[in-house]
This record gives sequence, structure tokens and C-alpha cells, in this order.
Amino acid sequence: MAEKNASKVSARAPSKPTAACTILTTPQRKGRTTMEMQVLWHTAMRKAVVLGTAGAMALGGMVAMAGTAEAATTLGAAATQQGRYFGTAVANNRLSETDYVNTLNTEFNSVTPENEMKWDALEPSRGSFNFANADKIVNHAKARNMQVRGHTLVWHSQLPGWVGSLSADELRKAMTTHITEVMTHWKGQIAAWDVVNEAYQDGSSGARRSSPFQDKLGAGYIEEAFKIARSVDPAAKLCYNDYNTDGVNAKSTAVYNMVKDFKSRGVPIDCVGFQGHFNSNSPVTADFQQNLERFAALGVDIQLTELDIEGSGSEQAANYEKVVKGCLAVSRCTGITVWGVTDKYSWRSSGTPLLFDGSYQKKPAYTAVLNVLNGGTTTPPTTPPTTPPTTPPTTPPTTPPPGGSGSCTATFKTDSSWSGGYNGTVTVKAGSSAITRWTVPLTMASGTSITSLWNATHTTSGSTVTVKNSNWNGSLAAGASTTFSFTVNGGNTAPTVGTCSTS
Ligand code: XIL
Repeated sequence: MAEKNASKVSARAPSKPTAACTILTTPQRKGRTTMEMQVLWHTAMRKAVVLGTAGAMALGGMVAMAGTAEAATTLGAAATQQGRYFGTAVANNRLSETDYVNTLNTEFNSVTPENEMKWDALEPSRGSFNFANADKIVNHAKARNMQVRGHTLVWHSQLPGWVGSLSADELRKAMTTHITEVMTHWKGQIAAWDVVNEAYQDGSSGARRSSPFQDKLGAGYIEEAFKIARSVDPAAKLCYNDYNTDGVNAKSTAVYNMVKDFKSRGVPIDCVGFQGHFNSNSPVTADFQQNLERFAALGVDIQLTELDIEGSGSEQAANYEKVVKGCLAVSRCTGITVWGVTDKYSWRSSGTPLLFDGSYQKKPAYTAVLNVLNGGTTTPPTTPPTTPPTTPPTTPPTTPPPGGSGSCTATFKTDSSWSGGYNGTVTVKAGSSAITRWTVPLTMASGTSITSLWNATHTTSGSTVTVKNSNWNGSLAAGASTTFSFTVNGGNTAPTVGTCSTS
């Protein structure tokens, strides 16, 4: 498997920072699981806390600061406050190790069996199913109210030899039986299934990967699999899952086009899994978030399903931060799973890609992820100074005029575009005086509309979209700038940016 990410991904500029403290829209979805309902409840509570605190601060005449909600101390709890889950891959044969289990139970609220639900593990010979090892993981999770991701039903790898030697007719029957038996066994217990895994080639072709399924059943095997899956367990979210699809590139665009086609034809698909195996050959790219946005705009949920980022120290921490911020900035990004509890048992152990080291100590990457999930708070509330200031200020602070006395400018750039849409960013810059709020009108090109916008608030009236600062990025010092970004569907023509105002 080591060669899988070896294909070159062209070097891109480092990611620009994204805001950590956007108040997120909770995904509105039908058929929620208990875990999802808990997550939604916690989100509502967190919003109430944030709003309550902001109100109290306003009354006291203080400046509202980010990160005033109570910081959670575990990944799972912090993600829950953001309306997400935080999971890990779990290996059944490690469940007897105390440190492993303690870390798993303390930090995570979702699990994915790392190998135990793959075809070779579940149906090593035709018609003979062995659910025992995966059952142990599912039961461990259920007993602790963790959710379970099912991984994976149809994949070219870890596929027993007998499958590849079947005729087309027999293979179709075998695929139908496998999906049916496996999903029936855990019916109602799996939050999301990776129905099909890694069906596309790496590189620039955007073509399907050769596999017994592709080669014998034809391109339609993916939708056949999704339709069977839906009929067996309608409560499970059905995902397509792949790697090297984390930025905008030929492979991710091929997957994007497939999902778009499925949505337009009513083929059942609920989510896209982005594995997120990052290393120097497959770095975290600047368009990570934009790529998630374009998928979300198709009407599917996003999950980061196998996240691991090789490296160490602050560089690794910064990459994790970018990825988690990217997910949090996309309201349909519903959860993150890291591909293992500890570096010791990672499939890429030498790259130390996980959040806990081989001794189960929290790495800088852990702290970075927890801080991002806690809304960007890097330190707990500080203790008040022990000595009060001796000299009272001689002049009372003046109230700045509404919006500050300054002016602002707004400039647009396209971040990425694809057939029928694009992602763009507007940079808002204060003039020679500080400002405290800003408004930017956009006129959308004919036929185009914004499907999501982040780092600002917006209202739409016909083709005019009025964008105003969020509560945390309205104040800009003289010459300082901030950005907001958005996804547009319906064409590639850029919007006209009107005059930035501070009133
Ligand atoms: C890996 C497991 O982590 C290893 O233990 C196993 O030997 C090979 O598979 N993409 C996937 C995962 O979808 O199932 C793979 O897991 C990693 C790449």
C-alpha cells in the first residue's frame, strides 16, 4: 500500500489561514442517529453559551472575544460542541491493550474498523461469513455510545482471490450477496458505509481504476452497489470514499462529476469520504477547503475518513490545524476520523502521522486539533492580574464612530473553478484609518448563485448579495485586511464587486 500516494501532486502555495471561530450552520439532515442528535443538542447549547456570553460582554462594554465558550478537554467532546464527531480507526487485536483502550474511550466518539469489515476479513471464501472480529469493535463502540463507520463494501484491495476469478454474472451475484449479508448483519448500527472505495486512478486521467468490478461489471457497478446498499439499510449514510482527492485535481474532479451525475439521476449517495492521507508527496494543499465546498454544494455530506499527516512537531500540527479548520468551515463536513489511535500501530508508523505518539502522549498536533475544535482558543481564560493598575486613565476612552472613521476596499479573486461553478475569495482592506465593520455588495453574473459563503454573513436579493462582516472580523486596523470566500454554482463568470462601505 505504500506506493498508493506516491503519485506526484503538484506543489502549491501553502494554505492561507482560515478563521476558526465561524458559528456554523448545523447540517439539517433526516434520519439522524442518536449520536447525531446528541451532537446537534450540544451544538445548540454551545451557540447559546456563545450568544449569552457575547450579550453579557456587550452590556459590560467589553470587546467580544473569540473562544469564550467553555473549552472541551477531549477531541470527541470538542467536536461534539461543533456539531461533529471525532473518530479513529480501531484494530480489534489492540483492544486488549489498556493504554490503547483508555485513549480510545476517552478521546473518540466514532470508530472505523481498520481492516475487520473488508471483504477478505468478512467473506474469505464464497458464502462463508465471519463477523466475529468486527462485531467486537461494533459492540465496544455501541456500549460506549460511539458511532460506527462501516469500511468498506466494494474495493479492489483486500479482496479475496475467489472474487477476481468469477465470471461477470457470478461477480454481480457475489457483490449483491456480499453487500446484502454484511449490511443486514449490522442493519441500523452503522452511521455511514463506505459503499465503494478508491474506484478512480491517480494522476491526470480522471479514469476509473482497473478492478474485477470495473473490468467485468462495467462503470455502472458503483451505482449498482449504492442502490443495493440503500435497499438493505436505508438508515445508513452511503459514502463514496477515496484518497488523493483532497484538493482540486483531475482525480477529485472525476469523483465530483460522478457524484453530480448521481445526484442529478437520483442514484442514492449521501456522503463523500476524503481519506486525507497526507505526506510530502501528497501535501495538504491551499484548496483543501474549497474542494470540500464544491462537493458540499452538490448536496452531499463530507467526512474526513482516514486522516493522518506524516511529520512531527509544529509543522505537523500546522497541517492538522489547516485540515480541521477546513472541515469546520464547511457546514456539511460532519466529522473527522483519524486513521489510528497511536503512531505505534499506524499503517505508516515510520511517518508518525497520528495525534498520540507511541507512548500515548499527546503530540503538538493533538493540541492544535483540540484548540481548533474548541473554536480557536489556545489558552484557558487567563487569571486576572494580581496588582490592579495604579493610575486610572486620565482620558476616558472615546467611542469610535459607527464603522470607524475609515474607508475600505474589496477585491475579488477566483480560487478554483470547474465545469459549472467556482470558488472565490474577496479581500476586504481597511484604508488609512481603522474600521469596525464593513459591507460589500456583490452582483452575481446571470444564472449564477452563491451556494455557501464563509467568514462573513450575507443576504440575497435577486442578483445582489450583500455581504457583511462576521462579529469577529469587522474590526480592522488601518491597512489591515480580512477575507471571505464562497462557492458559486451556475457558471464561471465572476461577480461584480461593488463599493466597500463601513456604515
Ligand atoms: C490500511 C490499513 O490501515 C492497513 O492495516 C492494511 O494493511 C491496509 O489497509 N485506504 C483505505 C484503508 O481505505 O482501508 C487502508 O487501510 C489505507 C488506505
